[in-house]
This record gives sequence, structure tokens and C-alpha cells, in this order.
Amino acid sequence: ALLSTTSMLEKAKQDKHGIVAFNVHSFDSIFWVLEAAADLKSPVILQTTVGTVKSLGAKNIVEVAKAASEHFNIPTGLHLDHCTDFEVIKEAIRAGYTSVMIDASMHPFEENAARTKEVMNLAKSLGVNVEAELGKVGGVEDDIVVAEEDAEKAVPGECKQFVELTGVPTLAPAIGTAHGIYKGKPDIDFDRIAEIANLVDVPLVLHGGSAIPDEDVRRCVSLGMAKVNVSTELKNAYSAAIRKHFEQEPDSLDPRAYLQKAKEAAIDMAKSKIQMVGSEGRV
Ligand code: 13P
Ligand code: ZN
Ligand code: NA
Repeated sequence: ALLSTTSMLEKAKQDKHGIVAFNVHSFDSIFWVLEAAADLKSPVILQTTVGTVKSLGAKNIVEVAKAASEHFNIPTGLHLDHCTDFEVIKEAIRAGYTSVMIDASMHPFEENAARTKEVMNLAKSLGVNVEAELGKVGGVEDDIVVAEEDAEKAVPGECKQFVELTGVPTLAPAIGTAHGIYKGKPDIDFDRIAEIANLVDVPLVLHGGSAIPDEDVRRCVSLGMAKVNVSTELKNAYSAAIRKHFEQEPDSLDPRAYLQKAKEAAIDMAKSKIQMVGSEGRV
């Protein structure tokens, strides 16, 4: 069965390690991520954006994630990433997602809190985890596009007020990371993370986890960021493996051949991220 990510992340926080939430874009990649997690005996979270829900179907994603988690026998959560649409949140919960993100970070504080509360009212009684974002994470994640100059860090006092007001069990404060690959080095505000973690008890979420030096991610985890989102590096790794396959064998027509290379690249990348957050051997 798929687990609520609330208890997974609370436990991870207590045990002082992170859990990677991998964005998956295809049914195959669900199996690849869970194989990597099983090889390393690690809990893991699968997440999909709204674009992936539209492309694959919420119910299908749930069925495949369930089948894969039972096959590999690994604690698995299934999360809806960056959703602005209440209808899609309802659809995901009805289909069996165990966690949803209501991303109302583009709205003022009060509106963000009101929309988050609305989702809490729906999710809480069903045991579904809820994640909200404060501040604005820069970069591009599917439909969510925030220009660098519009990125905004979360205000620690507002984080405290927000958690008290909404009761949200997981919070993603913007602290200087961005979606996608960085042009320079990410300017992570570690002091701000410490300040926020000091004011709120809930597990925090690190967005934009691709292309951050491992030691910086570990420092974020040690400060209370229990969920580490990784999308770009995973999909780039297996897309590049497929591209390389066709460069070397332009006439190749066997999906098992190129998907095998994609799988190997995805598993290698997923394992390195699992090792980065310290969740290896926690099952
Ligand atoms: P990256 O694409 O930078 O890994 O960010 C992932 C993310 O935050 C998904 O919500
Ligand atoms: Zn994100
Ligand atoms: Na990133």
C-alpha cells in the first residue's frame, strides 16, 4: 500500500535523514525509482506534476505506483507536486494519492493560507498529507514558471503563522534554491532555514533539489528539510542515455534496448540522490 508521507517525513526528521521525492514522468520511471530504493533499502516518495497527471491519468499512476511498491516492498508515498487547481487535487486524492501540494505561493499570504486550509479540510480526515509553499521558488517546473527576479525567500515569522493558521503538516519555504539546473552556484540561505526550523515543528521541504552540491543538501537536511525534491537531474539522466543510444545506433528499433539504457541511467542517478540524503538502509 502507498503510505501517507506525513509519518514517513516525521520519522525521517526524527532520525535526521532526508527522503528524496523523485518526479516521475512515465510508468517505467516509477519502477526504476523503486528499484533504486529497494537496492538501497530506502524509503522513497514518487511525485508527479499536474502535467504528468494529465498525460498518464491519476488512477493509472496510483495503480502502477501501488503495484511497484508491493513488488519491491519498499515504503512508498505518492505525492501531487505543485498543484494550483483544487479540482486536480480532489481528483488525485480520490484516485489514491497519499500526499498533495497546494501551490498558492503566487498569491498573498492570506489567500495562500485560505487555499491551503480548503485543501486541509478535504485531506486531513482521509489521512492525506498536505504540502504548501511560502515565498516563491524560482525557475521552471512544468507549468510553474517563476523568473529569477521574481523569486522570493520565505519570511520565518510568516512560516510560523502559516503553520499555526492552516495546520499544514509539511511546509516548503523558499530559501534560495531554484527549479532546474543553476547558471551559477545556488545561493542557499542556511541561516534562514535554521530560523524557520526553530519556529515550526513540521518537516520542511527542499524544492529545486537538482544540481545542488551534496554537502549543501546534507546541511539543509540536518537543519530540518526532510523532503528533498529531485526532478531535472533524473529525467535528464535517462533522456541523455536514450539520446546516446540513438547516436550510436540510429537504426535501433527495439524499445527494450533503449529503455534498458534509460533504466540503468535512472537507477544510477536515483541511487546517488538517495545516498546524498542519508536514507540508505532505513527500511
Ligand atoms: P529540480 O527540477 O531542480 O530537481 O526541482 C524539483 C522540484 O522542486 C519539484 O517540485
Ligand atoms: Zn518544486
Ligand atoms: Na534545481
